[in-house]
Amino acid sequence: MAYTVSKLTDYSAAALERASAELLSALGDEAAAVKNEADWKGFRDRWMARKDGVLTQINERWLKNAPKEVKRDAGRQVNLIKEQVEQKVDQLKNIEIEEDVNALDHGPEAIGRVDISLPGARRPIGAEHPVIKTTNEMVRVFQKLGYSVAEGPVVETDYYNFEALNFPPNHPARDTQDTLFIAGQQGKPQRERLLLRTHTSPVQIRTMEKMRPPIRIVIPGTVHRNDPPDASHSPMFHQIEGLAVDTNITFGDLKGTLDHAMKEFFGSSVKTSFRPSFFPFTEPSAEMFVSCFICGGSGRRGSDPCRPCKQTGWIEILGCGMVDPNVFEFVKDNGYDPKKVSGFAFGMGADRIALLKYGVDDIQLFFQGDVRFLGQWA
Ligand code: DAH
Repeated sequence: MAYTVSKLTDYSAAALERASAELLSALGDEAAAVKNEADWKGFRDRWMARKDGVLTQINERWLKNAPKEVKRDAGRQVNLIKEQVEQKVDQLKNIEIEEDVNALDHGPEAIGRVDISLPGARRPIGAEHPVIKTTNEMVRVFQKLGYSVAEGPVVETDYYNFEALNFPPNHPARDTQDTLFIAGQQGKPQRERLLLRTHTSPVQIRTMEKMRPPIRIVIPGTVHRNDPPDASHSPMFHQIEGLAVDTNITFGDLKGTLDHAMKEFFGSSVKTSFRPSFFPFTEPSAEMFVSCFICGGSGRRGSDPCRPCKQTGWIEILGCGMVDPNVFEFVKDNGYDPKKVSGFAFGMGADRIALLKYGVDDIQLFFQGDVRFLGQWA
């Protein structure tokens, strides 16, 4: 039988005591039956609701009609009851929250009161990888000059990676690019055989097949070579390639463009220097150096030799040259008649530039995924 508040007629101390004990024992019994949030709400309302809760009832039935001389004692008794009821309701509310937290599987450390003043669980946000950051910054420099971004496949055919770039089949120039070949391609004609592209240059051809001149493109991407990993080599690395084709493009345009780009990227005080080189797909070809942005070109850091530039004051940054007419022959039908158009191209290693820019001494650090290292760019 559920407890009901009876009207008090006997206001003796003993009678008050008896009525209180009966009420508190009912409070204890009902509290013990509270098992979930809905139970707790019912319990709270039954005892504390302003309209007809047990506390309101004892006010009505015990206090209101109490004779003057006992009112103070009865009032004190009712206040004690009130305190106990409030305490029980509060206490059960806490138990309820603990159960909720456990239900959410926050683990054993969550047992206990929830301290809502503690900071929430921080979810670490990712950061741009230093090589990607370097790539994006370099690409941006060329985008500001009007270049658009082009991309191509990493698994490439012999034709795009070599043949159309003027590396004839079996030509020794192919040996300069230690190629990783896809297995089981021997049944195909050589130009269709698949490999991992050794440079981003095949995207020059792919883009010229799709877009008629004039074009200005910058090509970021991953490339692979059969190099054992060490502090300066990785079988996978990143390049940024460029190509500009139009009528009357000259070596002066190449020099002006690249000199401007290097000043924009490394700072306006760097100088550039071009030295003759060879690439099958450019003629003439050059290697471009920038004055060492670490030692300012002096080759020394205080009394120590400058290591990044090997004390020369110059750092090799990229290969470049005027597009070889033989390359245009492969895309002649799309408007690239070597008698009418000319162009320049360049290609650089993004990882190498990131190593130099951030003073990192081992390329492997870029690919080990250690957040203690990568977090430095967050
Ligand atoms: N593809 C060359 C390499 O990976 C780099 C390069 C040199 C790209 C000269 C060019 C260029 O576009 O003109 O070694």
